[in-house]
Amino acid sequence: METVAKLLARKQAGEKITMLTCYSASMAMALNATAIDTLLVGDSLATVFQGKPDTLSVTLSEMIYHGAIVRRGAPDKFIVVDLPFMSYQINPEKSLTNAGKIMKQTGANAVKLEGASEVVLESIRRITTAGIPVVGHLGFTPQGVHSLSGYRVQGKDQTSAEKLKTEAALVEQAGAFAVVLEMIPAQLAKTLTASLTIPTIGIGAGPDCDGQVLVLDDMLGLYPHAPKFVKRFAELDRQIQQAAANYIAGVKQGTFPDAEHSF
Ligand code: KIV
Repeated sequence: METVAKLLARKQAGEKITMLTCYSASMAMALNATAIDTLLVGDSLATVFQGKPDTLSVTLSEMIYHGAIVRRGAPDKFIVVDLPFMSYQINPEKSLTNAGKIMKQTGANAVKLEGASEVVLESIRRITTAGIPVVGHLGFTPQGVHSLSGYRVQGKDQTSAEKLKTEAALVEQAGAFAVVLEMIPAQLAKTLTASLTIPTIGIGAGPDCDGQVLVLDDMLGLYPHAPKFVKRFAELDRQIQQAAANYIAGVKQGTFPDAEHSF
C-alpha cells in the first residue's frame, strides 16, 4: 500500500506518481490489480456517474457511499476522497467533522479539498493537525466553476500566475502533503513543481508535475465530453456498443444462451 511518506519520497526520487478516479467496486477491483499508486474518489462522480452538469450538487453522504464502495473493491490502494462543495467552506470545525466522517466511514487514506481561501487554509491546518492527510487542489477548481466563469485555463497572465504561486505555497505551509494542479499552463506547473516540497499532481497541467491524474471514464473512452487534456487510452464506448450488438444478435438469433451457458 502506498503511504504519504512513500508519495513524498517519489517526488524526491523523481518517480512519477499515478492517480486515477474511481467510483465503483467493479472498476476498483480492476484497478486494485494494477500498479496505479493512488485512487481518487473525485466529486467528478457528479458529472461522470450521476450525469449532472457540474460537481456542486454531490453530497457528503454520496461521497462517503462511493468512498466505501471503492475501498471494498480496492483494499490495497491509497484512496483519496473529495470533500464535496460546501462541506469545508463554512468553517474549519465543520471541515474537520466532515473530513472525519469520510475517514471513519470509508476507510480512505486522505481527503482532498479545493482552493486557498482563509477558511480552506485553516481547514487544512485543522484536518492535518487531527492526523488526516490532505491533498490540495488549485488552478481550475471545479467547485468554483461559476465564480471562475466556466471551464477555463487558469494562471495564464502574470497576475493570476503569481496568485497561484502564493496559493500553492500557502497550501503547502498549511499542511497538505500533495496538491492537484488543474488546467494551468505547463510552464507554470513546472515552476510550481520546482518551488514546492510536496508533490504536484497534474491534470491539464503539462508533463512536468510530479504525478498525473485523469478521470477514469475519460481515459477509458467512456465519457463523451472529454476536455483537450484527456487522452483516450482505450475506446470502451465502442467496445461496449459492439458487445451489446453481439449480445442482441445472439439473443435474437437464438445462439445465446447455448449449451455451454445453460444448466
Ligand atoms: O473530482 C475529480 O475527479 C478531481 C480530478 C479532476 C482531479 O478532482
